[in-house]
Amino acid sequence: MDKLRIRGGNPLRGHIPISGAKNASLPMLAAALLTSEPVRLSNVPRLRDVHTMLAVLQALGAEATFCGASDVAVCAQDIHTLKAPYDLVKTMRASFLVLGPLLARFQHVEVSLPGGCAIGTRPIDQHLKALEALGASIELNEGYVTANIDGRLQGAVIDLDIATVTGTQNALMAATLADGESTIVNAAREPEIQALADMLIAMGADIDGAGTDVISIKGCETLHGCTRHLMPDRIEAGTFLIAGAATQGSVHIDGGCHEWLEAPLAKLRQAGADITLDDDMIHLDMHGRRPKATDIRTATYPGVPTDLQAQFLALNCVAEGTSRVIETIFENRFMHVPELARLGADIESDGTTATVRGVKQLHGANIMATDLRASSCLVIGGLAARGETIVDRVYHLDRGYERIEAKLTAVGADIQRFNA
Ligand code: EPZ
Repeated sequence: MDKLRIRGGNPLRGHIPISGAKNASLPMLAAALLTSEPVRLSNVPRLRDVHTMLAVLQALGAEATFCGASDVAVCAQDIHTLKAPYDLVKTMRASFLVLGPLLARFQHVEVSLPGGCAIGTRPIDQHLKALEALGASIELNEGYVTANIDGRLQGAVIDLDIATVTGTQNALMAATLADGESTIVNAAREPEIQALADMLIAMGADIDGAGTDVISIKGCETLHGCTRHLMPDRIEAGTFLIAGAATQGSVHIDGGCHEWLEAPLAKLRQAGADITLDDDMIHLDMHGRRPKATDIRTATYPGVPTDLQAQFLALNCVAEGTSRVIETIFENRFMHVPELARLGADIESDGTTATVRGVKQLHGANIMATDLRASSCLVIGGLAARGETIVDRVYHLDRGYERIEAKLTAVGADIQRFNA
């Protein structure tokens, strides 16, 4: 099993390239199921989660492969099954995004319940509520969701109880082929939803309001193929900015996403980072200073994303002062706390709040990743710590960060992957 060896204490200095957004690629790959025509996506990151989604599309009968360094070609002309298998869906919850497209195009779908994961139970009740609002009949049996509709889905008002990201995406994709007009109320506003909507519009859909909490969709009979370039990954960008701050360094990040990082950038300024923006780059410079403790409360977009909570916690572990980090989105997203404590962090947490008393120096240790964003937090801890840190179970990291060792090595980190 792969591990990372990190010898910490080096400030990160230099330019870090940002890959395409994982959380835009997954719904956009699923959206290719809405048409029998070819879809081509560029700037797609080579991540475990992307490979899993390609495997799900292939299992359904679609052609779905990388064709070049970061281009993916999908053609869902010959779908031969409408059942998304448990062994694939269980490895990645986002596989559930095939539900809406398959139901809308074929009037039938069976998708394994995604099950919970390390960070929470991850229910899908809002996804099902949306499809029922569009006229689908839903059954749950033997661990599978089965959805059917006689004829086309019917446009409707979909009033979400929670601004769920993938729930909004499933509803949006299903509504594009419904008969009549739909309105998604309390829609999630994440930029990845806007990216999906832009793709669907390029395929011929009639959508208005994506990126706000009310999205209107005029259904059409068919959608055609398209070619799209993926937006940069704002969570990867935020992760590397925080790593630069935690190592008292000076990093330059591709600037394509600073408009989506306003809340995290404000927090980094509060922590003492000197941040300047231009069209091409986000420049962060700590001028060799130790960061200041900064309270964090996660929120739906445009607040501080839950996917940067663990990273900010790592920053606060080496900051000057005491801070509180409050997680409002998921019920169990502090599993990185005991691992950070193994590095010498002075930190305690209950279900939703972690209290951190910053220490001047963390010390290397053997630690274990528990989920995707926790693993990046532990890398940040190792980069800031004095001595050697071994991070185990880095397969979590590979789900969401492309070539992370190479990107970090290029800016001065002493980090190697090894198998043991
Ligand atoms: C998306 O997950 C992201 N994944 C997550 O990123 C991210 O953490 C999350 O949104 C929140 O921003 C992808 O986009 C592939 P939710 P999603 O539905 O859609 C509750 C990463 O690290 N809920 O917005 O699954 C749920 O339990 C991943 O890249 C219901 O109760 O998250 C949670 O408390 C991790 N019923 C809250 O809503 C539902 O039907 C937000 O979940 C759906 C969700």
